[in-house]
Amino acid sequence: MNLDSRAPNDLNSYWMPFTSNRAFKSDPRMIVAAEGMYYTTADGRKVIDATAGLWCVNAGHTRPRIVEAVQAQVATLDYAPCFNFGHPRAFELANRVADLFPDGLNTVFFTNSGSESVDTALKIALAYHRGRRDGARTRLIGRERGYHGVGFGGISVGGIVKNRMYFGSLLSGVDHLPHTHNPDHNAFTRGCPEWGAHLADDLERIVALHDASTIAAVIVEPMAGSTGVLLPPAGYLQKLREICDRHGILLIFDEVITAFGRLGAATGTEFFGVQPDIATTAKGLTNGVIPMGAVVVDQRIYDSVLEHADAPIELFHGYTYSGHPVAAAAGLATLDTYREEGLFERAAALSPYWENAVHSLKGARHVIDLRNLGLAGAVELEPRPGAPGARATEAMIKAWERGVMIRVTADIIALSPPLIIEKAEIDTVFGVIGDVLREVA
Ligand SMILES: Cc1ncc(COP(=O)(O)O)c(C=O)c1O
Repeated sequence: MNLDSRAPNDLNSYWMPFTSNRAFKSDPRMIVAAEGMYYTTADGRKVIDATAGLWCVNAGHTRPRIVEAVQAQVATLDYAPCFNFGHPRAFELANRVADLFPDGLNTVFFTNSGSESVDTALKIALAYHRGRRDGARTRLIGRERGYHGVGFGGISVGGIVKNRMYFGSLLSGVDHLPHTHNPDHNAFTRGCPEWGAHLADDLERIVALHDASTIAAVIVEPMAGSTGVLLPPAGYLQKLREICDRHGILLIFDEVITAFGRLGAATGTEFFGVQPDIATTAKGLTNGVIPMGAVVVDQRIYDSVLEHADAPIELFHGYTYSGHPVAAAAGLATLDTYREEGLFERAAALSPYWENAVHSLKGARHVIDLRNLGLAGAVELEPRPGAPGARATEAMIKAWERGVMIRVTADIIALSPPLIIEKAEIDTVFGVIGDVLREVA
């Protein structure tokens, strides 16, 4: 092997995730630095981050408190094993994360990503039922258009065709609720739509089909972000909670996007006033600085798993990097930053302005729906005939060239800025999107 054989700027070796590698490598969009609301590109341009990275940089980029905490931690305790040993910061962060959720959701299992959080939550649900000698409860219920990461558990309960169809038969014993996105009834709704709570009743149909005694858990995103900001109809989550309670089914909220302020509250659980049995988080937990996820679990599930354990180790699950010291330090400094700067409250206060900005695109070319909640928004475009996704992708590239990073999923532009965004920057983001939509064919 010749270590010098590849030029450092050869783009071939890096197989990029969820990216058209051919398109990117023929026209790369390289980012070399970031601060606050802005990226710096390789050619020295400033680009507004209208997506908080991938929904994770909720406090904005390279925040000094977080940077310093990471630097100090890596120089003090870079790593410590988390099986049979511990370090104080992981315990401290677990308490701080649990404090963001209502009482009951008191225990925290650390992971390294949203995908791992989801798989962890599903496994905890199964282990809980089995421990209680209710081990026939093995079925998992997800939802069409749900995104729960890319592990086999997550894609099995997830509902995105392309994320599933190439990867075999997935987990068995999985069923799906219908999704809640219905532009015929709900186009251009501000906040949660009034129509659609009845879609939760489909869970009763699934229960009748399989019998409740075979169902372990239902997992949904309180607000689905990655598939294009799909909002829960008013009363929908409450109904899911009631049906789960009626049948002894655990309710898991995938809060990987909704936790840490996105909706103008600490969590989706708080925002919607519906309490799950398990909540998955990641992303904003460390402001995207170091990979980390956390699964927040109801105390009675934790107690039950410990009580019914048939071995000294109660749960045969964990990752080398669960509660990693540097990630834990980043998490603590991130939560400090959110609190000191009142960023969740800031998001709530800014959300009416954001809502008006989103809906200012009504009547813009190609736009068939606009949606918003908290500091999340979606601009849904009519797909170009025969080329789904092409129009939005072109819009993304043109917006990048004009200094705004947006995210697209199929023909939906999804927006989720850092919670520090200023009103003038919101105006810039929607001004550029309006200009770009006039340009794309
Ligand atoms: C709701 C939800 N769950 C899980 C994930 C997966 O997270 P990760 O990419 O960190 O594995 C995502 C990522 O966008 C998400 O939005």
